[in-house]
Amino acid sequence: MIMNGKKVAWVTDIHLNFLGRQGLEKFISSIQEVSPDILLIGGDIAEAPDVSSYLLRLERSLDSHICFVLGNHDYFKGSLSQVGEEVRRISNASDRLFFLDDIPYVELTKDVALVGHSGWADGRLGNYDRSPVFLYDYILIDDFRMLSKARRLQKLKELGDDAASQLKDNIETALKHYNKLICLTHVPPFRESCWHEGKISDDDHLPHFACKAAGDVMRQIMVSRPDAHLTVLCGHTHSYSRAKILENLEVITGDAEYGRPKIQKIFYL
Ligand SMILES: [Fe+2]
Ligand SMILES: [Fe+2]
Repeated sequence: MIMNGKKVAWVTDIHLNFLGRQGLEKFISSIQEVSPDILLIGGDIAEAPDVSSYLLRLERSLDSHICFVLGNHDYFKGSLSQVGEEVRRISNASDRLFFLDDIPYVELTKDVALVGHSGWADGRLGNYDRSPVFLYDYILIDDFRMLSKARRLQKLKELGDDAASQLKDNIETALKHYNKLICLTHVPPFRESCWHEGKISDDDHLPHFACKAAGDVMRQIMVSRPDAHLTVLCGHTHSYSRAKILENLEVITGDAEYGRPKIQKIFYL
C-alpha cells in the first residue's frame, strides 16, 4: 500500500550525451509519468561541456527536487574543479537542484534522510600495480593527464579519502536525527557491490571501480549502530547487484546501457 509519504525515483549512469533529442525527450517523459517528489541521479549524467545544461534541462522539465552526485564521465573533457564549480553555481542558484557533495543531509521523511557524495575509485581493492586497465578518465580528465601510474594512484587515494571523510561526517551527523539513511554515490564502496557482467569484478578492474575508503567508514559506522539502517545506491560498473554487507547495511548497484537510460527503482517512503 502506498502511504502518504514521498515518492523517490533513482536513476544512475544515464549518460545523456549519448542520446539524440528524441531519446532525451523519451527519458524525460518516463520520469514525468512517475512524477517523483525526489529524483536521485547517481552520476555519469553527461560530460564536462554539457553536464550543467542537462541538469538545467531536467530541472525545467520536471517538478521534482533533483538530488545528484557526479560520476567520472561528468568530468570528461574538463577538470574536477571546473565541473565542480559549475554544478555548484547552478545548484546554488536553484531551489530544486541539490549537489549532495555540498550538503550534510536531506530530510526525506521524518524518519529517513538522504546523504551522498560522488566518490571516486581509490585503487585500494584488487591489484592496482599489476592491473593493465587504463580508463578514459586518465586521458580525458585534466587532473589525471600526464600523471605516472604511481602518481595516479596517489591521486585516486586522495579523492577516495576526501569522499570517505565527508561521508563519515555526513552519515554520523544524519544518524543523530534519523535511523534510516539512503546514501547516493557513484562508485561502489565494497568489493561485493562491484559487479561486472554477472560476477564480482576481478583484481584488474576493482582498483578502478570501487572505493574501499568509503566502504570502510560505512562499515565502521554501521557496526556501531545496530539500531540504524543504511541503504547505499551506486552505479559506475553498469552491472546490477544487491549486496548485504551487514544486517543493517546493503548496497544496490544500478545496471546501465549507453543510450538506454532508465529508472532503476522507485521508493515509496
Ligand atoms: Fe557510467
Ligand atoms: Fe562511472
